Amino acid sequence: MTISKNDINKNSPIGLFDSGVGGLTVLNKLKKLLPNESYIYYGDTLHMPYGDKTKEQLLEYSDKIFKFFEQKKCKAVVMACNTTSSVVYETVKDKYDFKLFSIVHSVSEVLSKLQVKKLGIFATRATIMSGAYNEKIGQFNPNIKVYGQYCPNWVHIVEENSMNLPESVKIIKSDFDKMMQNKPDKIVLGCTHYPFLTDVLAKFGSKDLFIDPAEPFAKYIKEYLAKNSMLSDFKTGNDEFYVSSNPDNFKKSSVMFYKLEKNPELLVF
Ligand code: DGL
Repeated sequence: MTISKNDINKNSPIGLFDSGVGGLTVLNKLKKLLPNESYIYYGDTLHMPYGDKTKEQLLEYSDKIFKFFEQKKCKAVVMACNTTSSVVYETVKDKYDFKLFSIVHSVSEVLSKLQVKKLGIFATRATIMSGAYNEKIGQFNPNIKVYGQYCPNWVHIVEENSMNLPESVKIIKSDFDKMMQNKPDKIVLGCTHYPFLTDVLAKFGSKDLFIDPAEPFAKYIKEYLAKNSMLSDFKTGNDEFYVSSNPDNFKKSSVMFYKLEKNPELLVF
C-alpha cells in the first residue's frame, strides 16, 4: 500500500463497529492473528439492537460511524456485525476512503465448503429477513439447505450480561429447541453477540455443533491485508474504544472477550 493523498498508509488503524459488545468476538480473533495492528472500536449502544432496525436507519447510523473512521484515517473498516453486513454492505461498499470488510460476504465461501447437508443460522431478525446468508452460501454451494432462525432476546441478554439467569437460559433453550426441529448438522452463530452464549448453548448441544464465523473472518482479513501490502510493520498496536451510550455497562459486559483497562469514551454523532 502506498501513502495516499489522505495520509492513510499500512500503519494506519483498523476500525471495527457493532451495535455493542458483539464485535469484540471479532476483535478478539483479529488481535490473535494481527497483534501489532492498531484498532479503533465503535459500539453503537445507543441504537442497539440493530436487528430490529430498518435499512434506512442502519444506513444512517453506519454512515456517521464511517465518517468518524475516515477522520481517524483508518486503512480498513471491519463490519463486525452481521446485521449491517447483510442489510447495508452492498449499498455502501465503495463509498468510503477505506477497504470495507463484511463478515457475511467474507465467510460465506468457507461455510459453503462445510461437509454438511443442513446448516442452521442463528441471527438477528434483520439478518434472517435479508436472506443474505442463504443467498451467499447458495452461490458457492446450492446443495446445502440453510435454515435461518432469529433469536429476538439474545442480544439484550449479552449486553445485560444476564446469560446465566434462569429466565435467560430458558429463552436460549427454547430458541435452540426450535432450531433443532430442522436437525441441522451445524449451526452458525450469525450474530457477533452470540459467541458470548457459547457456554449456555453447550448445555444443550455439543460445542462443535456451533460455528463462530469470527475465526474465518479474521483469517480472511489477514490474508487480504497481506496480499495488498497493508499489514502494519509497527512492533505493537494501540487500541481505542468508543460507545454511543453507557460506557460503564460496555466495560462490564465485554470481559469475556476483551478486558478493558478503562471505560470506553462516550461519543455520539
Ligand atoms: N452483533 C450484531 C450482529 O452481528 C448486531 C446485533 C443487534 O444489535 O441486533 O448482527
